[in-house]
Amino acid sequence: MERRDFVKLCAASAAATTLPTAADAAALKTRLYRRALLVDERGEPFRAAQLRVGVNYVFDYPFASTPCFLLRLAKPAAGGIDLKTEGGGTYRWEGGVGPERAIVAYSAICAHKLTYPTRQVSFIGYRDAPSPVAGAGKVITCCSDRSVYDPAAGARVVAGPAPQPLATILLEHDAKKDELVAAGTFGGEMFEQFFQKFGFRLQLELGDRAKAAVEERAVVRELARYSSQWAQC
Ligand code: FES
Repeated sequence: MERRDFVKLCAASAAATTLPTAADAAALKTRLYRRALLVDERGEPFRAAQLRVGVNYVFDYPFASTPCFLLRLAKPAAGGIDLKTEGGGTYRWEGGVGPERAIVAYSAICAHKLTYPTRQVSFIGYRDAPSPVAGAGKVITCCSDRSVYDPAAGARVVAGPAPQPLATILLEHDAKKDELVAAGTFGGEMFEQFFQKFGFRLQLELGDRAKAAVEERAVVRELARYSSQWAQC
């Protein structure tokens, strides 16, 4: 069932690219990477039912050094939202997965100046609670320059200097096993710029694994266990 939903999503995306109009000439395709089962820190499958609303989870995908946010939203995210990248590429965000379509995942690399959660500190993360930058809350805030993204709307930019939404991570949900698989990205991924900007640091931290593709499994952690500190704003 869920697999069919995912295929439908890919098909919908592909359809958008096969019928371009003048205004839609730059419609983006999905980018499929190696499939990775989401697992917990013991290596056991991470069940969708384990996700708690309001908690910020992180896993690395599609590369060993590129973190992503995994969230269960308080309400279903139906999708059907048209978004645009800085370069003018267009795409339709088709919503969350899982029983209530409330599970979403996005690249955690800020679309402004590429702030991302490191092992030492994170200046970007999902805030459930209100704050001066987060407004009423339930948004992803980047405290570097105060960009705010709405995870219930394809991570579109709602405030700040970010020029495009966070890239969507394509998830599949196996309804029988309640397992989640990351399978690709959609929208404006920033990996090339990320490796150019932080390549030296990543090489020091991870060695040759920095640019290695995640294969088969991706470990899910709460942000508080992924980064030693979380700078919130
Ligand atoms: S790097 Fe995130 S807002 Fe500037």
